Amino acid sequence: MEVLITADRIQTRVDELAAEIVRTYDGKPVTVVGILTGCLMFTADLIRRIDLPIRVAFITASSYRGETFVAGRLEIHDELLPDIAGKHILLLDDILDTGKTLTRVVAHLIDRGAASVKVSVLLRKLGRQEVPFEPDFVGFTIPDKFVVGYGLDFNDEHRHLPFVGILQPG
Ligand code: XMP
Repeated sequence: MEVLITADRIQTRVDELAAEIVRTYDGKPVTVVGILTGCLMFTADLIRRIDLPIRVAFITASSYRGETFVAGRLEIHDELLPDIAGKHILLLDDILDTGKTLTRVVAHLIDRGAASVKVSVLLRKLGRQEVPFEPDFVGFTIPDKFVVGYGLDFNDEHRHLPFVGILQPG
């Protein structure tokens, strides 16, 4: 597998993102909400560097199904989410692709009464976005390739890799 972003580069960038986030919230309490399962490593690494009063929660939003690269219907499950009414939310996702998932999840959190929602993604794919959506904090902009590792999977494999790699089709 071709390594696109090394583990060291990821860790350095996560340090920088955490510093930006701490400056932005300036001591305000934040509820960090990770979108499972791809957010796994990004969330674990980022929250350990955020020196703010934080709560951590998770939501599930999935559109990719099994062994296909084709996006299906989006399902949001928020049974694990505590009451977020009046809370400032920092939403974490692994990758911004078409933008549909994050648009839907942000609307969902606002519906649940969040005071504000800011979004941080580890990766943003170039030339794929179908709906206008601007994340507040972006780790890396990447080419339009299917990537795995650091939480990202193909059929639930490769999530454990400490780097982001390009999965060759076939
Ligand atoms: P949208 O299109 O809604 O999709 O922005 C975001 C979700 O799609 C998945 N996704 C990927 N997963 N490698 C992956 O492992 C990829 O290259 C990739 N591109 C999109 C991912 O679940 C993300 O949250």
